[in-house]
Amino acid sequence: MDKNVNIDWSNLGFSYIKTDFRYISRWKDGKWDEGKLVEDNKITISEASTALHYGQQCFEGLKAYRTKNGKIQLFRPDKNAKRMNDSCRRILMPEIPEEKFIDACIKVVKANEAYVPPYGTGATLYIRPFIIGVGENIGVKPAPEYLFCVFCLPVGPYFKGGMTPVNFTVSEYDRAAPYGTGAAKVGGNYAGSLLPHELAAKKGFADCIYLDPMTHTKIEEVGAANFFGITKDNKFVTPKSPSILPSITKYSLMHIAKEYLGMEVEERDVFIDKLDEFKEAGACGTAAVITPIGGIEYKENFHVFHSETEVGPVTKKLYDTLYGIQFGDIDPPKGWIVEVK
Ligand SMILES: Cc1ncc(COP(=O)(O)O)c(C=O)c1O
Repeated sequence: MDKNVNIDWSNLGFSYIKTDFRYISRWKDGKWDEGKLVEDNKITISEASTALHYGQQCFEGLKAYRTKNGKIQLFRPDKNAKRMNDSCRRILMPEIPEEKFIDACIKVVKANEAYVPPYGTGATLYIRPFIIGVGENIGVKPAPEYLFCVFCLPVGPYFKGGMTPVNFTVSEYDRAAPYGTGAAKVGGNYAGSLLPHELAAKKGFADCIYLDPMTHTKIEEVGAANFFGITKDNKFVTPKSPSILPSITKYSLMHIAKEYLGMEVEERDVFIDKLDEFKEAGACGTAAVITPIGGIEYKENFHVFHSETEVGPVTKKLYDTLYGIQFGDIDPPKGWIVEVK
């Protein structure tokens, strides 16, 4: 695409920028329509839509990357499609066929190609698919109609500082209930996280750590990212719990740690009073990529891992490998990369 956009790619943060095209498809009478690209970034829906009152909506987040030779590629979009369908089943919304999901992402990226940041800037095109319950309804029941939409915007790092360590504090609040919707990417989980985030930010922390809602003894999530730690004997460890959002980045890092770096990998309980077992720790997610954790405040203690100012060597290797795969510099495992042609 020849269009020139006036963006300072190297100084992008994580904030909304209106790009030119978005995709929209409607579900009605038991099926999705064909869907189309539109220019208008406003959606008009009934005031009685379930998405507005009862939180019947879910979303996804993935990225398009520009490679050294100018190609554009998506990272594991099939995993986002599957997770979106897991979310849909949890809140009684119609599933979206995997091919339709990936095709919509590709269409949106292609139509907004001018906004895909150049290779080497560290910036990417963030893609936000979502499904909302719409139509006239007032009882607490599934909506009569649904919209599946995808838009995109260029982004820089989610946490200010990118690969420099940031600090977190443990929240007294829960982001999810023990048998609730923590594993689904539904808006309600995030509405509940706004206050704990603000309290953490006011104390000078990047975000808060959530403990398991049942016992408040084990780490679950780091804001809107998953946790990992590197033990003193070099194992990659990440928490396992039914109320964690299954991070695609986390599962990718588990594979990278094992297959690319030859590390042992464990998905198991991580106790908040046993942080000493880790020499390094990080937060991982599509937006966060890998953000090294400098230290964690818990009650009166502040536990520092590797350093509050420097990234640890294992975290760095994990980051370089993941980043290399996403930007096309390192051979990916089979099926991880989808080229936008
Ligand atoms: C609560 C939460 N945890 C973890 C993640 C990281 O997941 P992923 O690696 O699939 O982006 C996200 C972001 O999607 C999230 O919102």
